[in-house]
Amino acid sequence: MKKITLLFSFISLYCSAQDVVKPTGLVATKAMVVSARQEASKIGADIMKKGGNAFDAMVATELALAVAYPYAGNIGGGGFMVYRKANGEVGSLDYREKAPLAATKDMFLDKDGNVIKGKSTETALAIGVPGTIAGVFAVHKKLGSLPMSEILKPVIALAERGVIVTQKQQKQLENYHDAIVKANGPNTLMAGKFKENDTIKYPALAETLKRILKNGKDEFYKGKTAKILVEYLQKRGGIITLKDLATYEAKWRKPLQFNYKDLKITSMSPPSSGGICLAQIMKMIAPYDLSKMGHNSEESIQVIVEAERRAYADRSQFLGDPDFVKIPINALLADSYLKERMSNFNVNKASLSSDIKEGNVTYNESTETTHYSIVDAQGNAVAATTTINDGFGSKYYCDELGFFLNNEMDDFSAKPGSPNMFGLVGNEANSIAPKKRMLSSMTPTIVEKNGNLYMVVGSPGGSTIITSVLQAILNVHEYNLSMQEAVNAPRFHHQWLPDLITFEPNAFDTNTIDRLKAKGYLINEKTTPVIGKLDCILVLPNKNLEGGADFRGDDAAVGF
Ligand code: GLY
Repeated sequence: MKKITLLFSFISLYCSAQDVVKPTGLVATKAMVVSARQEASKIGADIMKKGGNAFDAMVATELALAVAYPYAGNIGGGGFMVYRKANGEVGSLDYREKAPLAATKDMFLDKDGNVIKGKSTETALAIGVPGTIAGVFAVHKKLGSLPMSEILKPVIALAERGVIVTQKQQKQLENYHDAIVKANGPNTLMAGKFKENDTIKYPALAETLKRILKNGKDEFYKGKTAKILVEYLQKRGGIITLKDLATYEAKWRKPLQFNYKDLKITSMSPPSSGGICLAQIMKMIAPYDLSKMGHNSEESIQVIVEAERRAYADRSQFLGDPDFVKIPINALLADSYLKERMSNFNVNKASLSSDIKEGNVTYNESTETTHYSIVDAQGNAVAATTTINDGFGSKYYCDELGFFLNNEMDDFSAKPGSPNMFGLVGNEANSIAPKKRMLSSMTPTIVEKNGNLYMVVGSPGGSTIITSVLQAILNVHEYNLSMQEAVNAPRFHHQWLPDLITFEPNAFDTNTIDRLKAKGYLINEKTTPVIGKLDCILVLPNKNLEGGADFRGDDAAVGF
């Protein structure tokens, strides 16, 4: 934790209840955006300074990330947004990608029924119909207050002016250089050997955004942009047609709500698994006194891991696109069911994932992405997580339009029991079908306490999104950490299969890990990269906002 502390210029906050000084992230009195790039957080915060609300800021931040953070920010992907208005009304938007009309259940299998390695991640068939532009226009139409021209102006200016390459971005571009060249040839803009402090200008993306501003959402789905995109994809063996684009629609969905002790939590419902898994885990751990067990102690890790194991087993069996499959949500979240699920947890011995399987539920009645959190001066809150799936998505970068395309088709279950890039296995509920949305783990989440806004939370990280969001909430609520400390704290993860606990490296007590091993827990011994990258906001008792921007990336909080 010492290293982490040095990475931030913390300011101090006196916590009167305990009279201890807690290191905090940026504190603002009115409004805040926390996102993966300082440029995007600033553009979103400036929109609110000009009188825009959190929803205007959402549109601005989402599109600014498409410019400043092409690793995961996008207009070639999709996402989910959860909101809570100042009056307490909640809602959520699904702008997840969809399978093209020509997609088939077995499209990633060979003639013997085996998964063809790389076909769902590295080919043009990996690309789902993008939803981001439909998403931001849906938000703006229903909830925005400023004209789109005012929101898009600074985003287009950023694309024209260019974005400075950070050390971390240089590394990302180096790591993915060969894959980007393989997909696009050596002359693509993104194959440039950019170094830290270079500026990358995005003139093609600026032109695309200008056309979208002029012609609205139809420019992307029916206009010149659509035609260029379809031609680009079809030349590379893609199957997305003009009809796929023209018929894409973002969808308002009822968010998933549940209680954890004295908190009310609002998160994303299917086709994201995030809300249901988070609810299952939190309801399974609620009877335990985690706070007394201690932060990242042997006992608390055990309780959380066993709940995660059981929730991810259910995920693999029952969750998929609710427009295509019936999900037994009430049964999966029933207190009696979750109590029964944990009844075979033995504090002296690890459960085995091979013995767990999904629960007995009856149908009587859900490595790269980016998240941002916003609160405006009125108290409206937005949690949005958006993705092109892998880092730089499918690596297909349409130079004429200036953006990367997703490889979200990999989030479907290509074959029952066969793991996707995150090691997640799925089943029939998440099989491929035309127009179906692939199951996600994105977990944009808003937490209320005593009827008031308390936290806005979310993370990238594929399968580790849910467990990162869980730990952010627990770190604040059970362990009394500040938002920034909660984000900084080292994380662990279990997802049923593979049956392994993954720990962030060099951050956990080795004795704790040894004792877990002695109880039969299997530990991922490979060098682990970071788990999740949280960007969160906490409403402090005096109503100020504390940002938690993750040092694991270039993430930044901007507020006023
Ligand atoms: N592509 C990662 C997710 O949606 O969970």
